[in-house]
Amino acid sequence: MQIIKVNTSTSYEVHIGKGLLESAGEKIAALFPRNRAMIVSDDIVFPLYGEKLTKSLEDAGFACSNFVFENGEERKRISTIEALLEQMAEAHFTRSDIIVALGGGVVGDMAGFAAAIFLRGISYVQVPTTLLAAVDSSVGGKTAVDLSRGKNLCGAFWQPRLVLCDTDTLDTLKEVNVQDGLAEMLKYGVICDRDLFDKVKNYKNNDMEALIARCVEIKRDIVSGDEFDRGQRMLLNLGHTIGHAVEAASEFTLTHGHGVATGLAIIARAAEKKGMARVGMAKEIEDALISCGLPTKTDYDTDMLATLTLSDKKSSGDSISLIIPLEIGNTVIHKVLRTEVKDFIEAGK
Ligand SMILES: NC(=O)c1ccc[n+]([C@@H]2O[C@H](COP(=O)([O-])OP(=O)(O)OC[C@H]3O[C@@H](n4cnc5c(N)ncnc54)[C@H](O)[C@@H]3O)[C@@H](O)[C@H]2O)c1
Ligand SMILES: [Zn+2]
Repeated sequence: MQIIKVNTSTSYEVHIGKGLLESAGEKIAALFPRNRAMIVSDDIVFPLYGEKLTKSLEDAGFACSNFVFENGEERKRISTIEALLEQMAEAHFTRSDIIVALGGGVVGDMAGFAAAIFLRGISYVQVPTTLLAAVDSSVGGKTAVDLSRGKNLCGAFWQPRLVLCDTDTLDTLKEVNVQDGLAEMLKYGVICDRDLFDKVKNYKNNDMEALIARCVEIKRDIVSGDEFDRGQRMLLNLGHTIGHAVEAASEFTLTHGHGVATGLAIIARAAEKKGMARVGMAKEIEDALISCGLPTKTDYDTDMLATLTLSDKKSSGDSISLIIPLEIGNTVIHKVLRTEVKDFIEAGK
């Protein structure tokens, strides 16, 4: 098992290893009074792992209840949050009770947001069960729901008090969800760790627990220097600026990681064509994406992608920050005029 300490406005540990669901109750009881715990999960994850987690919490002395909603991004909405908050109020939850998020990024983002706003903030624990949630969404304290005008438009910064990643849960993931996680892992490699990039490319012959831990360390290092996303944390958007546009163009039939993979390939090719990156870098990134079963190209129209990229909430004023890889392991934040974005997409498509 690996333990990574995160020092943000609240400090917490991320535990990564096999069989952690069994010891979850004990670990959580070491941090909180043994009061009430509500497990928030979806209708795929809860039937798989809900019972084990409930037993572990009950054995440790917690009174356990659960809130289970239909899986999928479509449910990451205020209406689900409202139902969850009502159930917590009904159960007379207080600030000494806790939420335990058992699931992927959708569950984690929503459970975290409910924890952030119920009674102006109660504690929560993340138990990520997708690779994407393990390496990315469970750490760093960004919580959110979607609005009809876009993803993650409503949320809060609210750090979990503990993250427990039981790597055994990853065994039941569908291939497409494994690929989504691998896209984020390659992203970390391109941002700042060539060795990680090489290992993720060849992930079947590497120790997944160690790879997850390295990704969490990178996220920890970036987030602890910029918890509220005003500077360096933007590096984590590598592949996302254009990737989100690709996801939106597909009307979200494409999963997040697949959008990110395409966005990463486009920006890498654009950086190389514009003479900013080493010649040959984009091909290496494409090959790594392909070896992880991920896409590198899109047929969506350039104008449409440019419009969608510019409607992203992360652009401000006349300029937009593009995250540009110069080399595998070296990525920078580069401000361009909004009018230049289309040119970048064209160069990279
Ligand atoms: N907060 C952040 O910093 C952050 C970062 C990245 C992504 N996100 C958000 O995360 C979400 C995507 O997360 P995701 O890819 O985990 O999606 P998800 O939570 O929808 O999970 C994907 C699918 O896998 C299923 N699943 C989960 N765990 C499983 C398991 N162990 N075995 C079998 N099936 C399992 C789920 O039921 C779902 O159908 C997006 O909403 C995105 O905006 C947030
Ligand atoms: Zn992402």
